[in-house]
Amino acid sequence: MIKTEKISISRTARSRIKDIDFHNLEFGKYISDHMLTSEYKNGEWSVPVILPYGDIVFSPTILALHYGQMVFEGMKAFKMEDGKISLFRKDKHYARFSKSLERMCMSQVPYEIFSDGLIELVKVDANWVPDTPGAALYIRPFSFASEERFGVKVSDEYRFIIFSGPVGPYYSKALKVRVEDKYIRAAPGGTGFAKCGGNYGAAFYPLQLAKKAGFDQVLWTDGSPDLYIEESGTMNVMFVIDGAIVTPPLSDSILDGVTRDSILTLAKDSGIKVEERRISAKELADSIQKGKLTEAFGTGTAAVVAPIQLINIKGKDYTLPPIAENVVMTKIKNELEAIRTGTAPDKYGWNTII
Ligand SMILES: Cc1ncc(COP(=O)(O)O)c(C=O)c1O
Repeated sequence: MIKTEKISISRTARSRIKDIDFHNLEFGKYISDHMLTSEYKNGEWSVPVILPYGDIVFSPTILALHYGQMVFEGMKAFKMEDGKISLFRKDKHYARFSKSLERMCMSQVPYEIFSDGLIELVKVDANWVPDTPGAALYIRPFSFASEERFGVKVSDEYRFIIFSGPVGPYYSKALKVRVEDKYIRAAPGGTGFAKCGGNYGAAFYPLQLAKKAGFDQVLWTDGSPDLYIEESGTMNVMFVIDGAIVTPPLSDSILDGVTRDSILTLAKDSGIKVEERRISAKELADSIQKGKLTEAFGTGTAAVVAPIQLINIKGKDYTLPPIAENVVMTKIKNELEAIRTGTAPDKYGWNTII
């Protein structure tokens, strides 16, 4: 048991907060004043420390740089209506982090380091949680192999770090996506369900090709001839077909999105039918053409809910109904935001109030 009550805090003498325009928060650009770090060595995690955010020095041989043992999380804290701060679904993020670490053969980060560390860090940087509409404090816990060796091996040493930064909306407009029919992101038995860095690095090339062709994102498939849809970029995907939310079922090739779970929970509670089932590119095309598919959107911590305006399937563009008619998406998104900001009761216990 790590004594997290001993987390030492050294505060920065020079806060950078006055340089930030909280009304114009480019995603991923600004980093809060402090970070938390803990080290795993000789079979033990050290008591974490909070210190001013800054560079860290490592040997060029650390194993993470060569063999990719690296896992991360992405979560958010929100300013509530009463001025308090809520951290969204901390324990669900921890559970996924642990699953990812296990798949990558990395040392588990003890719950108290993750949980108490997050809470303390957000407290220290509480001024960085934006109160502008649609903005939040994005929090990035991550761990990587820090042992200095160049032989291919499972690392015996790790570093766990948390930093955060205020963010605005991820996408500013509805998305044009292409069903990717040449490259795949993940396959059964692979690491698709884990939030490990390599999954993202491997996705850049097909994404770059799609962007050059004028699309914002790709819709990944399972790689089978029927092109069953999996997910998109850093989002799970949902389609409203005949009034029901249809979304691919979780598997070892799809990330178990915290936003996905939250949206499906809220939808079921509002009496909206939810179908977690496979959906092929052909079914997508047919449903759009017959007017049965009325909405498509991605869900994720960064994007929250991102509407899709166009889907390209096998070279053909399918345009969806106007986003203004996305009644299902808008209803659930508003419900989610109301819980996060404290304007609706948190009946599922999703918020950790700081
Ligand atoms: C590949 C991938 N799928 C889906 C998601 C959505 O997950 P969450 O809602 O937990 O952010 C993310 C973002 O974390 C992601 O990176």
